[in-house]
Amino acid sequence: MNLKQPISCLSSSSPIHCLVYALVIFLTSTTISASYGGGNDMDQQALLKIKSMITKDPYGALTSWNNSRHFCDWRGVTCGKRHRRVVYLQLISQGLEGSLSPHVGNLSFLHGVSLFNNSFRGALPHELGRLWRLRFLSLELNKFSGVIPSNISGCSNLEGINLSSNELVGSIPKEISFLSKLTIVSLHDNKLTGGIPRFLGNITSIEEFSAAGNMFCGSIPDTLGHWKSLRVFLLGDCNLNGSIPHSLYNNSLLARFSLAQNQLTGSLHPAIGAMLPNLVGIQLRGNHLTGPLPVDYIIRSWVKHKP
Ligand SMILES: *[C@@H]1O[C@H](CO)[C@@H](O)[C@H](O)[C@H]1NC(C)=O
Ligand SMILES: *[C@@H]1O[C@H](CO)[C@@H](O)[C@H](O)[C@H]1NC(C)=O
Ligand SMILES: *[C@@H]1O[C@H](CO)[C@@H](O)[C@H](O)[C@H]1NC(C)=O
Ligand SMILES: *[C@@H]1O[C@H](CO)[C@@H](O)[C@H](O)[C@H]1NC(C)=O
Ligand SMILES: *[C@@H]1O[C@H](CO)[C@@H](O)[C@H](O)[C@H]1NC(C)=O
Ligand SMILES: *[C@@H]1O[C@H](CO)[C@@H](O)[C@H](O)[C@H]1NC(C)=O
Ligand SMILES: *[C@@H]1O[C@H](CO)[C@@H](O)[C@H](O)[C@H]1NC(C)=O
Ligand SMILES: *[C@@H]1O[C@H](CO)[C@@H](O)[C@H](O)[C@H]1NC(C)=O
Repeated sequence: MNLKQPISCLSSSSPIHCLVYALVIFLTSTTISASYGGGNDMDQQALLKIKSMITKDPYGALTSWNNSRHFCDWRGVTCGKRHRRVVYLQLISQGLEGSLSPHVGNLSFLHGVSLFNNSFRGALPHELGRLWRLRFLSLELNKFSGVIPSNISGCSNLEGINLSSNELVGSIPKEISFLSKLTIVSLHDNKLTGGIPRFLGNITSIEEFSAAGNMFCGSIPDTLGHWKSLRVFLLGDCNLNGSIPHSLYNNSLLARFSLAQNQLTGSLHPAIGAMLPNLVGIQLRGNHLTGPLPVDYIIRSWVKHKP
């Protein structure tokens, strides 16, 4: 097993990374029953195809990806102990350039992928949608362009998706609403358009939704009042208009929200403090909101979340 960099939980506070880390420990310390049937060979082929699409590897991150060792010992690759299939692919901050091969969709045992902070370009392969075991997809801080593939709905076990700080365009696909286990969605700093769709309200498992710094336009749908587990809601700088829907105050676990730098109108609910007892941070500057700030809530300043 290759956990030379027990990363993220130590070096970053990203919730997805921490969950992925916990997952790796879980998967590598347990055995999962599975059939063989040539799957190992397919995993090796897929990894070599992924390598072949990487045009720059300045730190030699993929040097060990050769036939002198089993692929389970390749850097960044973690296999299940018993079935020896790839369960986790983690290549973080390696300066890798190139595109992500569609063959990634053949790594059918994958539970987690983290390619955080590289220079992957081009489209997100729709073959990702074959990875129905995938729980975490962390592709933030790359140069991925094109749309979010609708096939992502095939990743029916997905709990966390982080595509932030890429160059993605188009709108949030409606198929994302089939992902009933999603808890963390991070799309901030892309070039997404097409509004905040009403169907997002169907993903009632959402705890964190971060999509600041896109060109969504339109208003905030009242269906987001169905996000009963919502704790973090960040939609600053998205060109949103209309008013803040009152249904949002029904999400009583909400701890932080930012709607800064939009064109929102109307006023805050006067009883916001009572309705959102867990609120610790709120950002509303740069809007056209009117009316008094509620007296039952002392607005604390909160670190601007965007760099
Ligand atoms: C997603 O990635 C960005 C950039 O690394 C990070 O700031 C953010 O915390 C991540 N979000 C989640 C929910 O992990
Ligand atoms: C193959 O990988 C091993 C480590 O597993 C490494 O020492 C060796 O240099 C690699 N060979 C080539 C040709 O890159
Ligand atoms: C991204 O990776 C580069 C190395 O390629 C590193 O120097 C930089 O600090 C990393 N940035 C983040 C935010 O982790
Ligand atoms: C692997 O993926 C590629 C591209 O998605 C596909 O063409 C191929 O048939 C798949 N299967 C194998 C065994 O390589
Ligand atoms: C992904 O969806 C497109 C249509 O949206 C379809 O043509 C394609 O075959 C799908 N790919 C996979 C791998 O399911
Ligand atoms: C969302 O849920 C509503 C009500 O259950 C349903 O009518 C609608 O089709 C769903 N939308 C999507 C995109 O799943
Ligand atoms: C919000 O802006 C859109 C154009 O982006 C416009 O069509 C719509 O009427 C506006 N809605 C409100 C409530 O101002
Ligand atoms: C808040 O929830 C209550 C009970 O679930 C419901 O009756 C009410 O209509 C909701 N309010 C809004 C503004 O959605």
